[in-house]
Amino acid sequence: MLQDSLSDPEIRTLAQISTENEHEMRLLTSMELFFNLDDPQQGSWVQCKADGTTPMNALLATTRARTTTPTLRTAIRALATAAPVNPIIPPARTTFGNLSDEDRIFTNIYGFHDYKLKGALKRGDWYKTKEILLKGHDWILDEMKASGLRGRGGAGFPSGLKWSFMNKPHDGRPRYLVVNADEGEPGTCKDREIMRGDPHKLVEGCLVAGRAMNANTAYIYIRGEFYNEASNLQVAIDEAYKAGLIGKNACGSGYDFDVYIHRGAGAYICGEETALIESIEGKAGKPRLKPPFPADVGLFGCPTTVANVETVAVAPTILRRGGAWFAGFGRPRNAGTKLFCISGHVNNPCTVEEEMSIPLKELIEKHCGGVKGGWDNLLGIIPGGSSVPVLPRQICDDVLMDFDALRDVQSGLGTAAVIVMDKSTDIVAAISRLAAFYRHESCGQCTPCREGTTWMANMMTRFENGQARPREIDMIDELSREIEGHTICALGDAAAWPIQGLIRHFRPELEARMAQFREEAQAKA
Ligand SMILES: Cc1cc2nc3c(=O)[nH]c(=O)nc-3n(C[C@H](O)[C@H](O)[C@H](O)COP(=O)(O)O)c2cc1C
Ligand code: SF4
Repeated sequence: MLQDSLSDPEIRTLAQISTENEHEMRLLTSMELFFNLDDPQQGSWVQCKADGTTPMNALLATTRARTTTPTLRTAIRALATAAPVNPIIPPARTTFGNLSDEDRIFTNIYGFHDYKLKGALKRGDWYKTKEILLKGHDWILDEMKASGLRGRGGAGFPSGLKWSFMNKPHDGRPRYLVVNADEGEPGTCKDREIMRGDPHKLVEGCLVAGRAMNANTAYIYIRGEFYNEASNLQVAIDEAYKAGLIGKNACGSGYDFDVYIHRGAGAYICGEETALIESIEGKAGKPRLKPPFPADVGLFGCPTTVANVETVAVAPTILRRGGAWFAGFGRPRNAGTKLFCISGHVNNPCTVEEEMSIPLKELIEKHCGGVKGGWDNLLGIIPGGSSVPVLPRQICDDVLMDFDALRDVQSGLGTAAVIVMDKSTDIVAAISRLAAFYRHESCGQCTPCREGTTWMANMMTRFENGQARPREIDMIDELSREIEGHTICALGDAAAWPIQGLIRHFRPELEARMAQFREEAQAKA
């Protein structure tokens, strides 16, 4: 029975709602209702039919005519509200983008304002940080989980969940937060903007993220070439210490927290989290085998979480405005606002914060003044940094910029670095250049990556010249699949995917080039 499925408190609440909104209520669907009259004169049950258009007050009037007992009214109302009329279910959103200024988290990524503490305070940083800290790690983790934030470093792992892995029973070892500010992925230029223009967001983020993990120390591992970024960040750290925002008794919360900058030497592989940990420890940046994962054995053998700059820097605003606020942007599982970096053949390359799930075309037309020569002049786009497969124009026409939509078209959001290529691009040469990059950056520990990246780069040079045979297209595809998933770290995958994307979408281009090379060679002979 419908009534049986409701608990007492539910009936009471619903009866109350019913009293207040009686005239507006309608049954959602056609159904038969059985009202328990609790009236010996009338028998136990009265049956009445209602459809989706029956106003509730009309239904009540009909049934009320049969009895006058007060118990009946309550029962009817309780049951009626069990299928409320016009419940406020927001329609599923189908359009995304057009983020308004008041919803932007990063308000100084273009460096127009003061990056120092005075300017940061004006922009709302460090507001009620003490209250956030005092709410404790469980509250922070719950809000982060509710926000739906997924890591902004490329893999997109849910951040709240990842941070919660740190809170195993304390075994006496210190815990560390390590911020990944290496930003080596070609095309990516967002973390450096945060550190140059909004460094206090990152410092405050370290404190609240560290509190969530019960870590008392954060290391920010920053690419060595980022001189201005390291310098501005150090100014922000010094200011925060001086103002008592970090250090002993951070913000007066009773929690001690230190932040250090560690400058790297600029190897791409040092962005991989375990290579980064090795590098901080003073060793060569070579990824570690997992398990053990850093949350168990990380920096200096202690529990560690490595998180991207953007991931950490958005945390304080999420905690101030609430996880639900952040979750309100983008599609389910793809929540939030996001920094997109758009480069290549667009009229105004830029880094911009937008709503997740914004259509790729809208992102480019609205913020970058469109593709050079117009949308029809578009050849293809790498949507998430050099590691993800290229998309041809027909997919770019309507794909959304989020984790799931890009995975569904066999690419990825990665770091959200959008590399736009118009028809003047030699796509084979472009992918060949990336293959050379990955060969150069392989740390050489595992054979498939060390040997495979070299073979692929050599073959791509031949493809670029048209010198190869058509059957080599399948050979390089097979080779890339022998590398993918068979290495210690994801650099192997990163090297394989651009080539797979090229073959998937531009095979005729490869074949035509080989045919042309053969024709020219025959003509010369
Ligand atoms: C070869 C390689 C390079 C990477 N470079 C970076 C990087 O520069 N910055 C970054 O945040 N993550 C980078 N990552 C991903 C990190 O290993 C790690 O997943 C990330 O920092 C986690 O942060 P998140 O949870 O906030 O996304 C790289 C991964 C690989 C395999
Ligand atoms: S996949 Fe490449 S970069 Fe990663 S550990 Fe193996 S050899 Fe080194």
